[in-house]
Amino acid sequence: MVAVDGPQLAGWLDVTRLSLHVLAASVWVGGQLVLAGLVPTVRGFGGDATKRVAVAFGRLTWPAYWLLIVTGVWNYLAINPGAATTSWNVAFTVKMVCVVVAGVGSFLHTRATSARARGVWAGLGTLGAILALILGVALTG
Ligand code: HEM
Repeated sequence: MVAVDGPQLAGWLDVTRLSLHVLAASVWVGGQLVLAGLVPTVRGFGGDATKRVAVAFGRLTWPAYWLLIVTGVWNYLAINPGAATTSWNVAFTVKMVCVVVAGVGSFLHTRATSARARGVWAGLGTLGAILALILGVALTG
């Protein structure tokens, strides 16, 4: 009889690890995309509405970023990185650069004083986050 490798359920620890990582990614990356779409409406409320929404947004999303780092380290330790291929290691390294760009871009966006700088940092941060997400999917093999 020929053994066939079919799909298998992940163990509960892997489910926990990846679910937390993906949940945090959905808040960090998805939140930025949704907020970008909401900003024109929020601006219409006038006053300091945009600033207050931005502060509330940061309270929700920065914990997700730190959870991504913690569960990301957990991912790395859980998958036997010593046995990874060269292309996996390259993708992982590029992903780490994207994670830094995502965090630094978002931070500098909150500190920028001109509308142009705010836009550039937000764009860079979101691009880094989306690339980190895509590379993360590639890393799961
Ligand atoms: C902006 C930050 C990040 C985002 C958006 C992100 C996103 C993702 C996504 C969507 C996956 C695929 C999960 C799946 O398909 O089940 C993944 C996997 C992975 N991530 Fe991240 N991640 C981030 C940060 C990190 C960090 C900081 C590390 C390491 C220190 C890391 C290490 C990994 C590893 C090793 C995998 C593969 C896990 C496996 O195969 O079990 N990630 N990531």
